[in-house]
Amino acid sequence: MHINTDSLGVKIKHLPQKNWELKKGAISVSNLTFKVKWERITSKLGGFIALYCKENARILDVGAGDGSFYSYIEKVFGYYIGLDPSVKMLAGFKENISKRAVQGCAENLPVADGKFDILIFNSSLDHCMDPDAALREARRALNAGGRIFILLTNKGAWYKKIFGTYAKKMRDIDVDHNFHFTFKDIKVLLEKNNFHDVRVRSFDFLRLPVSVENILQKTIPNGIMLKIMDFFDHIMGKIFTNKGGSFMCTGVKI
Ligand SMILES: C[S@@+](CC[C@H](N)C(=O)[O-])C[C@H]1O[C@@H](n2cnc3c(N)ncnc32)[C@H](O)[C@@H]1O
Repeated sequence: MHINTDSLGVKIKHLPQKNWELKKGAISVSNLTFKVKWERITSKLGGFIALYCKENARILDVGAGDGSFYSYIEKVFGYYIGLDPSVKMLAGFKENISKRAVQGCAENLPVADGKFDILIFNSSLDHCMDPDAALREARRALNAGGRIFILLTNKGAWYKKIFGTYAKKMRDIDVDHNFHFTFKDIKVLLEKNNFHDVRVRSFDFLRLPVSVENILQKTIPNGIMLKIMDFFDHIMGKIFTNKGGSFMCTGVKI
């Protein structure tokens, strides 16, 4: 579908905004996360969105980075606009007739009211300066019946409960995220901003020390690792509801 950006009220790349660049966090990431988990988490979000959304949806991906998420939702999108404040992140964005990049911030979306069916925060709400304002803007940009989707790492994850002091130390040295959320925090924010039918899916339960995950990645083929992760999610999801390493949630604008 060809995007008529004028009809969306989108002002492409002419915003007097301060650029935001991804800072190098002090948190070390395992090879398992780097090579297997991120891809898995992203494709889970794509599947979650497909569950709720019709084809040919008009999608706004807020904090889209290089827009690579579009390949996980190609089946549902009619057109896709990836918004990000960072010139560096947008530099890798490959545009085409149904996929466009816009420079801007979640707190002040440069789009007209009610023009989108789906609005996504894929690992970006916790990077924003003002998540409450971001959700207010998200509601404004969505049409009635439109859905918001949020994917985040989980402050309330089971292992962060068990190793609370260590988890807090990691949060304190994390220069990359401005906020850390549990599902309950997001539910409160969504309801405050008048989103209804809020649903969550927590997953990514297999979380081990970085050194152990590095060994697993080196010794076990990725395909088998994926099956092990599915097994963990299945079993532990029943015991520790909403306490996986990541969660995704959705709400609807009525
Ligand atoms: C961890 S990256 C996620 C990028 C992409 N969604 C992905 O999953 O590959 C976080 C993104 O949020 C963007 N970001 C930071 N502050 C933002 C804001 N106030 N509004 C919108 N995006 C923001 C950053 O520029 C960065 O591209």
